[in-house]
Amino acid sequence: MPLTVVDHPLVQHKLSILRDRATTVREFRALCAEISMLMAFEAMRTLPLEDALVETPVASAKVRRLAGKKLALVAILRAGLVMADGILTLIPGARIGHVGLYRDETTLEPVRYFLKLPGDIGERDVFLLDPMLATGGSAVAALDLLAEEGVQAPRLLCIIGAPEGLERVQEAHPEAEIILAACDERLDERGFIVPGLGDAGDRLYGTR
Ligand code: PRP
Repeated sequence: MPLTVVDHPLVQHKLSILRDRATTVREFRALCAEISMLMAFEAMRTLPLEDALVETPVASAKVRRLAGKKLALVAILRAGLVMADGILTLIPGARIGHVGLYRDETTLEPVRYFLKLPGDIGERDVFLLDPMLATGGSAVAALDLLAEEGVQAPRLLCIIGAPEGLERVQEAHPEAEIILAACDERLDERGFIVPGLGDAGDRLYGTR
């Protein structure tokens, strides 16, 4: 599936502030939500439409409206939560699933601690949300879970990706479409994206 890098000037400008170490928790949270909303807007460009008729106060109007599957957002905890909040401003009725994963600091492998998905997730168009695609371990673990539930062609929205993570996801889940705001240079020895923006969860919640 294709990789899309959302190069819209607004997204890139907001991302420049998000990366800055001087950005406050409050600004970081707001920017994460705004960037996610703009990325989702772009990612939803390919949603199918159907023709319909509505009666305006004046006459019948041929209109186009969303067709196809209903949508669901799945947030990878913790940092994906704020992305879901941003995207809900576009699609307020969307169902939301949560996958709790943290990365073991030594092995860098994801550890699952929570899972709650909409019952009919397998019949929905799914947007999987996590700001950082580093080694790709968390995204692959979440995509494995979605595949077990019968989700087809999920879209993975990450604000920043590393080439290592991209490769791992594309190999394990070629059916997934990946949407990024930026693809960075590499991972460092701690598994942090370089230059990246640091630890998204810590910057969102003021933890360390
Ligand atoms: C970070 C980040 C991703 C994951 C990316 O989460 O938000 O979920 O690491 O790394 P990967 O691609 O190598 O799996 P973290 O484990 O720090 O948890 P948190 O969101 O609760 O801070």
